[in-house]
Amino acid sequence: MVCMDLKGTTWDVRGKTVLITGANSGIGKATAIELARRGACVVITARDMVKGREAKVEIEASSGAPVVLRELDLASFRSILQFASAFMSEYPTLHVLVHNAGLILSTRGETEDGFESTFGINHLGTFFLNRLLLPLLVKSAPSRIVVVASDAHKSARGGLDFDDLQSKRSYNGIRAYAQSKLANVLFARHLATRLAGRGVSAFCLHPGVVATNFTGDGDAGGLWGFFFKWLRPLLLSPEKGARTSVHLCCTPGIEDISGGYFVKCRLATPSKAASDDAAALQLWEISDALCEESALPSFDF
Ligand SMILES: NC(=O)c1ccc[n+]([C@@H]2O[C@H](COP(=O)([O-])OP(=O)(O)OC[C@H]3O[C@@H](n4cnc5c(N)ncnc54)[C@H](OP(=O)(O)O)[C@@H]3O)[C@@H](O)[C@H]2O)c1
Repeated sequence: MVCMDLKGTTWDVRGKTVLITGANSGIGKATAIELARRGACVVITARDMVKGREAKVEIEASSGAPVVLRELDLASFRSILQFASAFMSEYPTLHVLVHNAGLILSTRGETEDGFESTFGINHLGTFFLNRLLLPLLVKSAPSRIVVVASDAHKSARGGLDFDDLQSKRSYNGIRAYAQSKLANVLFARHLATRLAGRGVSAFCLHPGVVATNFTGDGDAGGLWGFFFKWLRPLLLSPEKGARTSVHLCCTPGIEDISGGYFVKCRLATPSKAASDDAAALQLWEISDALCEESALPSFDF
């Protein structure tokens, strides 16, 4: 698929290159359908290419537009690096990056690089992907980064546990998820500060409580698994859950509120812990160091 270089035009998603992680399911898939329908050049990623191919067929049928599928496993720095290198050689521009992929896990696991999986996938893998693609986003400015966080970040009341980011001392799936979503909000806010004046905006959001595969494929047992299964008919549809992501991808004139946290397409107030600039900087530096320790490229932003 050939996407035009639209540098300098007013904000309109038509013809823009939009990359959405974890778009084989749920909110990501619904976001892809809507953006493809609106004329964006949509690239979706999946960690499981069988699921990815099924989703591609469904997205194309529902939107009436072609989308591109690429493999990306955020639990593997090797996969992230391979994906980003191939993407950058294939695409001259990236106008919108939607960090959508995420999960909750009932038992503690580790990524290929030895990081606790919830932190490793929801935050660190996302952070590393972002680092690799940032030069392309800057080159493509005006551009946007949209991070699908969650109101669950509010339950991490004491803030990020910097002494145990990897939940080595003890593991609780809901706590690890809340911490990772707090990391998402801190990341987006700090990113916006770093990118000020470069034409790249960063936003984060809570999509609502949405009937997706979240918790549904063995990702979480316990109360949350029960909640999502039995209350499913009462939850938002994926299409409604995608509205705030789509809003942040498409709405012109929101660059001034870069760094904002959005709920129901409106600017909202994140938790006190998520508004802690010192914590956001500390998380950024730790994340950078963890990427560097893994002997992987980093860029000076
Ligand atoms: N549903 C809600 O109520 C809710 C509320 C607040 C926030 N959120 C957030 O919304 C986002 C989307 O979730 P969803 O509700 O749409 O759930 P979903 O249907 O399970 O979709 C999550 C997507 O992330 C992908 N993913 C998981 N681990 C990955 C990895 N290691 N590498 C790459 N992709 C990976 C999944 O792939 P597989 O299909 O292979 O697992 C799937 O495509 C998440 O960030 C979630 O935290 C959801």
